[in-house]
Amino acid sequence: MQILPSERSPASFGRVAVLMGGNSSERPVSLNSGKAVLAALQRAGVDAFGIDLYGDDGSANPMAQLQAQPIDIAFIALHGPGGEDGTIQGALEMLQIPYTGSGVMASALGMDKMRCKQLWSSLQLPSPPYRLLSSSSNWDAIAKALPLPAMVKPAHEGSSIGMVRVETPEQLASAYDSASGYDSCVFAERWIQGREYTVAILDNQALPVIRLETPHQFYDYDAKYLANDTRYDFDTLLDETQTEEIKSLALKAFSAVGCRGWGRVDLMQDAEGQFWLLEVNTSPGMTDHSLVPMAAREAGLSFEQLVVKILASVG
Ligand SMILES: Nc1ncnc2c1ncn2[C@@H]1O[C@H](COP(=O)(O)OP(=O)(O)O)[C@@H](O)[C@H]1O
Ligand SMILES: [Mg+2]
Repeated sequence: MQILPSERSPASFGRVAVLMGGNSSERPVSLNSGKAVLAALQRAGVDAFGIDLYGDDGSANPMAQLQAQPIDIAFIALHGPGGEDGTIQGALEMLQIPYTGSGVMASALGMDKMRCKQLWSSLQLPSPPYRLLSSSSNWDAIAKALPLPAMVKPAHEGSSIGMVRVETPEQLASAYDSASGYDSCVFAERWIQGREYTVAILDNQALPVIRLETPHQFYDYDAKYLANDTRYDFDTLLDETQTEEIKSLALKAFSAVGCRGWGRVDLMQDAEGQFWLLEVNTSPGMTDHSLVPMAAREAGLSFEQLVVKILASVG
């Protein structure tokens, strides 16, 4: 698939504010994304500047920062609650500042892994069976229903934060305890044993599929940001039909949530070859070694071309 770089002149975007930082647990990742995006936009000749919404000590006022100077477009390089969940998108709507990526509703929904699963299953889009957990859950019954092993997840976190693989009802209970420290909504999802994939989406097209491989039990925080033994492979071990299937599933999942512009869908494939949707990311990592830039590069787009294309997709 050939994706042409945007032909728009860099000056035509006007003053572009790259929003970064935020106050979610993904703040450090967002600062890295934001700095990389800002540098790339500037290299591409766009009149861009950065805004760290809360500042290093958390004391800056995000709304005041957004109104302190004229902004023609906001490039959202925020991850997690506050920046990826419709909150900042709503603020930008109020201020009539166009912004990159998904709107208020899709951002809010995309941030909620469990509600995405409910939506997808209503459309017959496969996502692993799950159970909502609470302090009064019957752990034995849940263990039997799923069945175990399972992954316990806070519904609104990212970067694998608070996630634990469990094999026994006792582990289920203690994983719930730790995950509920991150989120009031925690669920357990059937463990999928198999390969892991991610599909980046840009302008309603799927970019080349990436297969992820880690010696860790799963693609956890360490494997994502610290380890050097995580493998990202364009040799997906999928034939042409399966490649079309996974891309089409990712695009359907993306549009079911109402996403626009760009994003990324995470999936797994079990031993029988069945694909399972894990989640959609409406504001994924954007450092130059993040997954979307990696997929874009494989499609022939440099990091600079990618960020300009994301800007150009703002309606
Ligand atoms: N049901 C599952 N079975 C096996 N591994 C899983 C399952 N759900 C998640 N994982 C692993 O955990 C990682 C993070 O899960 P994900 O749902 O993508 O959340 P996030 O990336 O937002 O933290 C995945 O990349 C995958 O390695
Ligand atoms: Mg993920």
